[in-house]
Amino acid sequence: MAFFSSKKVEEIKSAADIVDVIGEFVSLQQAGKNMKGLCPFHNEKTPSFFVSKERQIFNCFGCGEKGNVIQFISKYKRIEYHEAIQFLADKYGIEPDRKDSIKKNDSVEKLYRINELAKQFFSLQLLNLESGNDALNYLKSRGFDEQILSYFEIGFAPKSGNQLWENLAKNFHDYELVEAGLIGKNQSEYYDIFRNKVMFPIRDETGKTVGFSGRIFNNEENTAKYVNSTQTEVFTKSELLYNLDKAIPFINQNKRLVLMEGFFDVMSAYKADIKEAVCSMGTALTVQHANLIKRYTDNVVICYDGDEAGIKAAYKALILLGQVGLDTKVALLPEKLDPDDYIKKYSKESFRNVLKNNLYDQYDFVYEMIVSRKDLTKPAEIEKAKLALFEYLDKVASSTIREIYLKKFSNDTKVDYQDILADYHNFQLENRRRQSINQRKVAMTKAQTEVRLTKKNVEAATDKLLNYYALYEEARTLIRNKLDLIRIDNHRKKQLLMTLTQLLADGSPLNEMMVKADFSEITEEELQLLRKTPSSYYNEIEVIDCIETLILNRYEHEYEKNLLLQDDPNLPIEEKNKAVFKIMEIRKNINNIREKRHVKKTNSHR
Ligand code: CTP
Ligand code: MN
Repeated sequence: MAFFSSKKVEEIKSAADIVDVIGEFVSLQQAGKNMKGLCPFHNEKTPSFFVSKERQIFNCFGCGEKGNVIQFISKYKRIEYHEAIQFLADKYGIEPDRKDSIKKNDSVEKLYRINELAKQFFSLQLLNLESGNDALNYLKSRGFDEQILSYFEIGFAPKSGNQLWENLAKNFHDYELVEAGLIGKNQSEYYDIFRNKVMFPIRDETGKTVGFSGRIFNNEENTAKYVNSTQTEVFTKSELLYNLDKAIPFINQNKRLVLMEGFFDVMSAYKADIKEAVCSMGTALTVQHANLIKRYTDNVVICYDGDEAGIKAAYKALILLGQVGLDTKVALLPEKLDPDDYIKKYSKESFRNVLKNNLYDQYDFVYEMIVSRKDLTKPAEIEKAKLALFEYLDKVASSTIREIYLKKFSNDTKVDYQDILADYHNFQLENRRRQSINQRKVAMTKAQTEVRLTKKNVEAATDKLLNYYALYEEARTLIRNKLDLIRIDNHRKKQLLMTLTQLLADGSPLNEMMVKADFSEITEEELQLLRKTPSSYYNEIEVIDCIETLILNRYEHEYEKNLLLQDDPNLPIEEKNKAVFKIMEIRKNINNIREKRHVKKTNSHR
């Protein structure tokens, strides 16, 4: 969306003369200082719509609509305020202060170029320059030679303060380097954010470098092991999978993706000829990750670290991947090893074998997790494991699967299967009961805050209200008391009610002749609204219901109006604050009425 400053908006207003603009849509005649015409916002036969050239506003004395030229376009064309500004700007050839869409593309391309050049710089430091020797030796000692380091484009960020900045500042503005998350600013000095680190470039799935992760390599104390690029327009860690771009052909070939925790795991796996491995850069797998994976394969093997944290994370990942429809298996590494350590301790072949022949499907894995770390000779431990198992099985749809694992549990604990089954059924019942209470609660709050009146609701309430007003003196008192609070959308019917309140002010019964005289060109349909039908009778609950509906209608309109004000970029902050308070107040009023009605309804259903 383009941006117009308030100065620009003023410029637009003075270019777009309100008489010219409205004159295109409404035929206007001179009337004294002003122009007048038939109001485009309500039906009328005699003009009550005035436009003032002097004050640059319009005002309808029939329906009350008024405002400036932007508000006219917004109302007339039924578009948002900022769209009306854009419309007039286009019409009068006024440029916005910022064209965001164009600027965005430019800045994204810049970020890619900065990251690409930084990657080349870091790589040169590691593989070709002396300053990178320590880092290179560290990586070699962990078993990674130049060939594999080049494949993964690993680099080194030099120790001294601002070499990257010096290198890039020739080609980019400082603020662009700061925006890319590679350079920081300290008073007037620019400095490199990554210093003395092994650098892992992170590419998106199309192969563009979008950010970095830097690792310490000489056991510096009091420093985080990894530092990552800050979030930028192209780098969101929680949406990226390390090495996905290079893994894609191997994912296709092997019909699966192997998901790991860390950079070194992925690099070691590659050495063991597992080239379809990626990592989530830690264990925080997100639904964005899951959807990204789904674009390339339906089969995932999770191979997280074999420690407690890794197993827990694998369980979470399993559920999440299942939710987007991925078929997931888990490789469990023994002795708390991560893939990198495992390959070193055992062998590449052994690792390949785990990933081929030693996979747990989701049920086996969960069962293993629940049961394997408990001492199943102790009753308290059995009880804990049992509840965890029930919890899980209750989420699994198939009863076959349930039976298999309940039997297995009975076997492993030596508790009679029938007893376990009985416990499970009780657990299920209790669970259903809890769920239905929760559902009812959710449904109630939803009903109160989300359900809006429909046009039909409002029309029906309007018609009934008119009918009651015409026919029953008791209803008139009730309605008159709330006249200021209700809103009737239909302009004719609103006028009709006003006419009735004047005619029937003294308690006399309705006289159709008088209505006809006082209400110009009343139609047969409108008259029908005022007449008794065979089923007419006075029902006070219904009268109150109509009144409440029309009060709600007014609140809902005010609510919408204030929501717009709150978002209006041209409104001063005090006005916005007012709108925010108004919104809170209206919401409270709406909920009060809805709650009252909800209680009434549930009572009358009994
Ligand atoms: N990670 C991260 N930021 C951190 C810690 C970890 O982004 N502060 C990510 C890195 O991608 C890392 C992975 O989580 O590779 C796993 O972390 P960890 O197991 O601690 O590191 P390893 O990569 O296994 O490193 P090493 O083998 O050297 O211990
Ligand atoms: Mn690790």
